[in-house]
Amino acid sequence: MKKGTWDDDFYTKKAQKEGYPARSVYKLQEIQQKFGVIKKDFKVLDVGAAPGSWTMYIMKMLGESGYLSAIDLKPLSITIKNPNFFFVQGDAFDQANIQLLAEKGPYNAVVSDAAPSTTGNKIVDTERSIQLIESIYNTALQVLTPGGNFVFKMFQGGKEKEILEDMKKHFNAVKILKPQASRSNSFETFVIGLGKKA
Ligand SMILES: C[S@@+](CC[C@H](N)C(=O)[O-])C[C@H]1O[C@@H](n2cnc3c(N)ncnc32)[C@H](O)[C@@H]1O
Repeated sequence: MKKGTWDDDFYTKKAQKEGYPARSVYKLQEIQQKFGVIKKDFKVLDVGAAPGSWTMYIMKMLGESGYLSAIDLKPLSITIKNPNFFFVQGDAFDQANIQLLAEKGPYNAVVSDAAPSTTGNKIVDTERSIQLIESIYNTALQVLTPGGNFVFKMFQGGKEKEILEDMKKHFNAVKILKPQASRSNSFETFVIGLGKKA
């Protein structure tokens, strides 16, 4: 599908119609359709979850035996009342939060759409984004089960080569995808690590 303003509008309207708080859900949907990163009995960790469209989508996908933990600095804009859901409002850099989430694991999949707030200064923004990715990557390696999958958002122009090379040591396969629902002017791509090595 052609990317541009029309598509941006298309995905926003589609999300509103389907009851999702953000259009970003279609990015995860495409990743899921292509790579099957989540299965219905999985234990999943969603990092940078607010306002909650990935969270909603994952909860719909998980069966009764699945479990989802999520974290964000901000509260979710949706309410999920389910004993198989755990939310931490806090910083994903914070060791105490990582510990809390780790106690609910280990996880079969870690997904992250987290992005730091931007300053407009490209050097500062890229550096912040790299720090966040490295921290989430370290958490993922710590809490994923062998065979587990890892999805995260990365902005081009950072340390992508180093991160991808390192990921190849830890995952059986590493894929990159720029989903259709990504805005046409966005530098984001998604990295998918399939099957964490034991
Ligand atoms: C693009 S939004 C995520 C959208 C979400 N996947 C959805 O579909 O609703 C990025 C989120 O990352 C969160 N974030 C950024 N830095 C974070 C941090 N250090 N700890 C936790 N969350 C963080 C932001 O608060 C923001 O809500």
